[in-house]
Amino acid sequence: MNGDDTVYPCSFVIFGATGNLATNKLLPALYHLELAQRLPEGLSFIALARREWGQDEWRQHMQESLQEKVKDRFYEESFASFAKRFTYLKGELHDPESYRAMMEELSKPKTGVCSNVVFYLAIKPGDYAPVIKNLDLVGVNKSSGRHRIVLEKPFGEDIESARLLNQVLHRSFDEEQIYRIDHYLGKETVQNLLVFRFANTLIEPLWNRNFIDHVQITVAEDIGIEKRADYYDKTGALRDMLQNHLMQLLTVVAMEPPPALEADALRDEKVKVLRSIRPVSRRAVHAHAFRAQYGPGFVGGQAVPGYQEEAGVEKNSTTESFVSAKFYIDNWRWRGVPFYLRTGKRLAKQCSTIAIRFRYPPQQLFRETPLESIAPNWILLSIQPSESMHMEIHVKQPGLEMNTRVIQLNASYRKTDEVPLDAYETLLLDVIEGDRSLFIRFDEVEWAWRVVDPILKYWAQEREFIHTYPAGTWGPEEANRLFDSEDQVWRNEL
Ligand code: BG6
Repeated sequence: MNGDDTVYPCSFVIFGATGNLATNKLLPALYHLELAQRLPEGLSFIALARREWGQDEWRQHMQESLQEKVKDRFYEESFASFAKRFTYLKGELHDPESYRAMMEELSKPKTGVCSNVVFYLAIKPGDYAPVIKNLDLVGVNKSSGRHRIVLEKPFGEDIESARLLNQVLHRSFDEEQIYRIDHYLGKETVQNLLVFRFANTLIEPLWNRNFIDHVQITVAEDIGIEKRADYYDKTGALRDMLQNHLMQLLTVVAMEPPPALEADALRDEKVKVLRSIRPVSRRAVHAHAFRAQYGPGFVGGQAVPGYQEEAGVEKNSTTESFVSAKFYIDNWRWRGVPFYLRTGKRLAKQCSTIAIRFRYPPQQLFRETPLESIAPNWILLSIQPSESMHMEIHVKQPGLEMNTRVIQLNASYRKTDEVPLDAYETLLLDVIEGDRSLFIRFDEVEWAWRVVDPILKYWAQEREFIHTYPAGTWGPEEANRLFDSEDQVWRNEL
């Protein structure tokens, strides 16, 4: 994958520097890049947040959170050079004064004039538009340098708001300057899926409706909504996870081989998949989508509260913490093959898997034997917690009878001495190096909204009732109503 004629940025501003995302993901990832000596020498960071902190408090916060997150990879010396890159700035997202202070800080760069800055919006999506407008107000826009702006999903809260946000963004920035993050695309297994599909002649001929019965994509979390009720209660699982992370996984499973591994070639193929998804009509919403919310229960042996009891959740909220959906891709490769997607919080365990179920063999050759029916083959790709690949095939059981058993060919594709990468390390490095292949183009966002929009609109009118499931389970039984046939069931284990 190649970058543009990149000039490395000299400054990197993190909005929301003390928030969840910055603390849990961005700082550890940047620190790991420091360890790997991948941060450009002169790159400095401005950490912008609301807290009344000075440099010492910020440093202390960074040190404590990094020690907790990176554990035995915390080295005093590396931390010292990492921390030296940072300046903490107290600022309010809605106050133009804070942006002036930021500009002042940016105008005293350590290495000449800085006209190439990364602005990372690690903030609530509702604050994107005001931040972009304020940046423009102090002169940060397409005519003021080769800046880059990074935004997290969800991009908008429905198709209309996504379009509006895109207009606001384009007033100040060109498309090449915009990095819309979906961190699932930075995960190793997801990238490996491209290699698995397009570097192995063995696989690609089977990857279609002639051999595949259905596809399941599961992103299960055992955590609850943590302290994010403010964001989550207005968002729900469909917007938070399915419209972006799961839809991206679907596109990578279903896309055609791109002519080259380049940003636009890849994204063109992903858009084609999204465009081919059969629209869900109003009448069909119940048959295609299901939502639920967790009640109290047990996770890992610990009693946990239900969604309604979480701090900050509105009374009688019907926001979904679980969603499952079925889509059909109406093209030559996939017509008639259901793609089942599901995601939820407080499920039985944390695991993300892509499970491909193959068709039954066309001939029941073993009819006259003790074998009644042969279970179909599966390919299972585990995204997390471990990155691995499993193939289930039949072999004959040794012995006089004609019995078979299923064996798994298992491949963990990381060697024991290889350190796992976090998706954010890959993606932040791409931002710094100017490679947009793993970022989302607006038409992808727009088409993904178009797919889920009918479901969102329908649910918005049905706000009185929501199914519940005890925390620590796989969600309600009713979620199974999406399956097309009785022999299709959720695959919970590898
Ligand atoms: C984020 C969602 O995008 O992804 C969170 O907002 C979710 O709700 C998280 O917990 C899951 O990411 P990961 O990498 O831990 O699977």
